[in-house]
Parts: sequence; C-alpha cells; structure tokens
Amino acid sequence: MANRKIILDCDPGHDDAIAILLAGKNPTLDLLGLTIESGNQTLDKTGRNALNICQFLEIDVPVCLGVEKPIIKEVEICDAIHGETGLDGFDFPRLKKQFDQRHAVNFIIESILSSKEKITVITTGPMTNLALAIKLEPKIIENIEEVVLMGGSYQNGNVSPAAEFNILCDPEAAYIVFNSNLKITMIGLDVTRQVLVYPNIIDRMDKINNKASLLFTKLMTVFNENQKRVFGFLGSPLHDPVTIAYLIDPSVIETKLVNCTIDISHGPSYGRTNCDIFDYLKKPKNAYIAMNIDVEKFWNIIEKGISRYK
Ligand code: BDR
Ligand code: CA
Repeated sequence: MANRKIILDCDPGHDDAIAILLAGKNPTLDLLGLTIESGNQTLDKTGRNALNICQFLEIDVPVCLGVEKPIIKEVEICDAIHGETGLDGFDFPRLKKQFDQRHAVNFIIESILSSKEKITVITTGPMTNLALAIKLEPKIIENIEEVVLMGGSYQNGNVSPAAEFNILCDPEAAYIVFNSNLKITMIGLDVTRQVLVYPNIIDRMDKINNKASLLFTKLMTVFNENQKRVFGFLGSPLHDPVTIAYLIDPSVIETKLVNCTIDISHGPSYGRTNCDIFDYLKKPKNAYIAMNIDVEKFWNIIEKGISRYK
C-alpha cells in the first residue's frame, strides 16, 4: 500500500515538536511539508522552532509560514507553558535551514490539487491556514482524505471552562472546517489528558540514547516544569502527537461519529466543541470524536518513533 500523504499544520510548541518527530520518519507516512500557525507563540517564533526541529532531526521537508493572525480575533499565545521561545529547553545548533517561500495557505492548496492521491491534513494548532485554504479554493475538499486535528473536548476546556486552546485561538476557523463536509477526526483533551509525560516516561525514552531521545527528554523536562508551575500537577499531557499516533495505528484511539458544532457566539462558551455524544439533537453527524485511548500502545508508538532516528 502507498504511504499516506500528509501535511502537518502546527505551532511548535513542545508537544507539536514531538508530533513532527513522529511524522518525520515513519515508513507509512509521506510528510509533504509543515505549514505554520501562530499559537503557542507568535508566527516568527513557531516558524523558527519548526525549522530548528527539522534541521536537528534531519527531516528534509518544506516549512511554510502561514497567516499571522486568526480570522477575527487577535493572536493569543501560550508562553506560560511553552516559554519565551515557544520551545524552551533545548539549545539547537546554528540555524541554516530556510523557509520555503510559498505561503502556507498556497502550499496546502497546491499540494492537494496537484496530488494524484488524497491528502490527509493534520492540524495541531489553530485551524486558520486550513480554513482559509478551504475558502480560497473549495475544490481542495474533494482531494482531502481526512482532517485529523488536536483540539476541542467533549468535556471541559483547558483555557476556559468550555474551550480548548487551539479552538479558542480561532473558533471561526474551526467553524469553517467543521462545516466543510470533510471527514474530521477530532482528538480532544478527553484523550490527550490521559497520556501524561511522567518522569518514568522521560527515563524510558532517554534510554534510547539518540538525538531524538535527547530532544524528547530535554523538551519534556521543561514542559513538565512549566505545566507544574501553571496547573500544579506533574505530568504534561502530550496532546499533539496523538494525531500522528492515530495515523500510524488507528487502533490507538476509539472514535465515535457525532454531530459537533463550534460555538462562535462570543459568549462564555465561545470556542466550545459541542459534541452530541448521545445524539440528543438528531442532527447530521459530521465528526469522529476520540473517546478513549490505549495509553500503553501510545507510548510504544512514541518509543518506536524515537528509535527510528540515529
Ligand atoms: C494544545 O494547545 C497547545 O498549547 C498545544 O500545543 C496543543 O496543541 C492543547 O490544548
Ligand atoms: Ca500545538
């Protein structure tokens, strides 16, 4: 079977970095490029982080900068968790890799329209680039296999009682994507909060002893320190790599097809992903929602992914 062609739209970010690591050298995935959002930090910083990760791990793919701001809102960053650089905790060698000159939105459109096979788009940040690509060239919808996003929650949020960070950064963008008749798989906080990077996980990955394990252990140590300071508990949720783990082995999560609407009311639930798990409303089902995760299977995928590097 041909490799699955993917575009990873991200805002690195500690957990985005591990998603890139996992996607960059998997024999079943063909990573066409990274498209970059602002989110965990401003666009210049998340972009630089993406270049650094690719250069360090020798992942030779185009990195394209996207839009700087959400569709309606102002930029919100998450420096309390990801730090001043957006990726605090690792000293990368001098940066030589450069951005691809194409705009992320154009890269998404051109890659999808020119591909013989359908493309899977993964978003691990706000969904602005993908939403704008859909608006600019709706023909891409036909050639998208699936959108797999880290974002939302069928339970509580992490930046408001109702909303998760990636969705609340740009609810209008998420609204566009969720209303585009695409196959959507939403990996929300409900499952990502179950894969916590406890110190024993850091020790386990550290034993692999290669450049990817070095990156993992250093980044996750700082991620944990910041997480403890902000939320008061140890063990950071490793949100974003669950998307890639699901592509590598779909059995890692259990999903349910439901009706999911994005709250764009600008009220207290702004940015909430309303998932009608019990089908109260009898509305058309538009998204597969991750309900459960096999935690040990997930860590095995991470371990194997790290081991693929020298
Ligand atoms: C999401 O927010 C970001 O800080 C993380 O990178 C992840 O994508 C979790 O809410
Ligand atoms: Ca992210």
